[in-house]
Amino acid sequence: MISYSAVSTVKGRATDLKTVPGPILLLGAPGVGKGTQAKELVKLWGIPQISTGDLLRANVAQGTPLGCTAKEIMARGELVPDSLVEEMAEHRLQQPDTANGYILDGFPRTLGQAEWLDGRLASEALPLVAVSIQVDYNQLLRRITGRRNCPACQAIYNVYVNPPKQDGFCDVDGAALVQRTDDTEEVFRERMRAYEALTAPVVEHYRAQGRFAEVNGDRPIGEIAAGIVAAVEQLRR
Ligand code: AP5
Ligand code: MG
Repeated sequence: MISYSAVSTVKGRATDLKTVPGPILLLGAPGVGKGTQAKELVKLWGIPQISTGDLLRANVAQGTPLGCTAKEIMARGELVPDSLVEEMAEHRLQQPDTANGYILDGFPRTLGQAEWLDGRLASEALPLVAVSIQVDYNQLLRRITGRRNCPACQAIYNVYVNPPKQDGFCDVDGAALVQRTDDTEEVFRERMRAYEALTAPVVEHYRAQGRFAEVNGDRPIGEIAAGIVAAVEQLRR
């Protein structure tokens, strides 16, 4: 399992963060570790993770009209239309738990979504800070094909590098782990195509705005979390 020694170090520093975290954006390719890192930051800062992928999967599971539209698009590894994702994000951003900040995971991922978000945040006290996580292609493929998720508590495992204590079952609640239907090599390739074509320009958009940092994602989870916290502290000064 994960070594939390680095996160413990982060914990000491996170409590020293003088300002509220505010809106934080995690950028990076499919499987880079956005969800894993967002969960670490939630523990440290007590602000919510807003994952549009998780929200869409919940809509698919509940059979909502949005879920019915999104299901096939997600299964192909393509992106759901901006207007639908923005409406869903708006609803989530209006929840009171976002008052001190939130961690955006998987949104925005087109320039249209980024412009929508910029407009929405223009009147807020704290600007967005963006952190891009970098991992090479072969490592991403291994992370995607080895990923297993807990359907009850959303914990994320990996059969190769971060396995549960008991094969196939969540350490936290014992639920049987599941594999996402889009976590195949074929769909991953399409998701990477969508990332390169539509989301890589979003990374450049936020790099150009400043308040942007890059972290190496090919390290232990706790070390990456420490790197993200250090970057956010620096950008908030
Ligand atoms: P989404 O759910 O956002 O998928 P994604 O961007 O492809 O990202 P992933 O969730 O696959 O990866 P991750 O970076 O969160 O990695 P994780 O932490 O799990 O989107 C799914 C679909 O929904 C899209 O394809 C699209 O159709 C639609 N969608 C969502 N948002 C949208 C939007 N805004 N607009 C339009 N459409 C949208 O980690 C991966 C694995 O690596 C795990 O097994 C983990 O244990 C392991 N791992 C993590 N960190 C490490 C480490 N440091 N070392 C070793 N292993 C690690
Ligand atoms: Mg994710």
